[in-house]
Amino acid sequence: MEIHGIVAVVTGGGSGLGEATARSLVAKGAKVAVLDLGSSKGAIVAQDLGPNALFVEADVTNDEQVAAAIRRTVEAFGALHVAVNCAGIATAGRTIDKDGQPLDMTPFRRTIEVNLIGTFNVIRLAAAQMVKNLPNADGERGVVINTASVAAFEGQIGQAAYAASKGGVVGMTLPIARDLARDGIRCCTIAPGIFETPMLMGLPESARKALGASVPFPQRLGRPAEYAALVCHIIENPMLNGETIRLDGAIRMAPR
Ligand SMILES: NC(=O)c1ccc[n+]([C@@H]2O[C@H](COP(=O)([O-])OP(=O)(O)OC[C@H]3O[C@@H](n4cnc5c(N)ncnc54)[C@H](O)[C@@H]3O)[C@@H](O)[C@H]2O)c1
Repeated sequence: MEIHGIVAVVTGGGSGLGEATARSLVAKGAKVAVLDLGSSKGAIVAQDLGPNALFVEADVTNDEQVAAAIRRTVEAFGALHVAVNCAGIATAGRTIDKDGQPLDMTPFRRTIEVNLIGTFNVIRLAAAQMVKNLPNADGERGVVINTASVAAFEGQIGQAAYAASKGGVVGMTLPIARDLARDGIRCCTIAPGIFETPMLMGLPESARKALGASVPFPQRLGRPAEYAALVCHIIENPMLNGETIRLDGAIRMAPR
């Protein structure tokens, strides 16, 4: 699908990988709805991007809010062709702590709710809108791109909740692509390694340096623009479907 002239919704578009994606898509001539929480930088990012961007406040776990955000996107820009799921949270906690106490279920449930259920909520509502598009010359009506993590494959100590949520995103990628195939909507997932975003910037610089040095090549953290470049390629390449692509400089995470 050609990016120029399409309409995309980018969840988590107010920060990190989502922000870089929104910026790249607008630069390539798309119209972008930056979907994010009211407490995020989404409104600032959308304003900075100008008339081809719009901030739509929504929590991805809330059915009504996401449906309303998609309605507002279509009212403003006339259609919806692409949904990029970048909204996500990272929590940490061992299954049992040093004193043998079991992990509190609240953060575990919230991580699954945002990263897995929130992603599916956006996909189903976005796809229901995309089926209304006329197919392009390749028969395409839409493209869905999700964000998992290398933790889906090599979750580290303390990452049971996060790895489970991202493993769920990887697991549903193929069945969603199969579900939506008859409507000409593709679905792919990107599994990033370690990227320089506010999520990572919470770590001390020494820890970030050590993480970068653990990447075989290139020996550094990923740049959000490199994630955005893969999003653009997936949109443009009609043969990419039902697949999870690692974007990680060949890193394989150790247990800790
Ligand atoms: N940064 C990395 O190294 C890395 C690695 C692997 C995977 N990821 C994944 O990439 C995605 C983006 O991460 P990032 O590093 O850009 O993080 P980030 O914290 O910079 O951005 C995440 C954005 O999601 C938004 N968000 C959180 N919960 C939301 C909700 N319920 N509804 C709507 N928006 C919500 C936040 O407000 C924020 O703007 C996440 O899913 C993360 O798990 C990141």
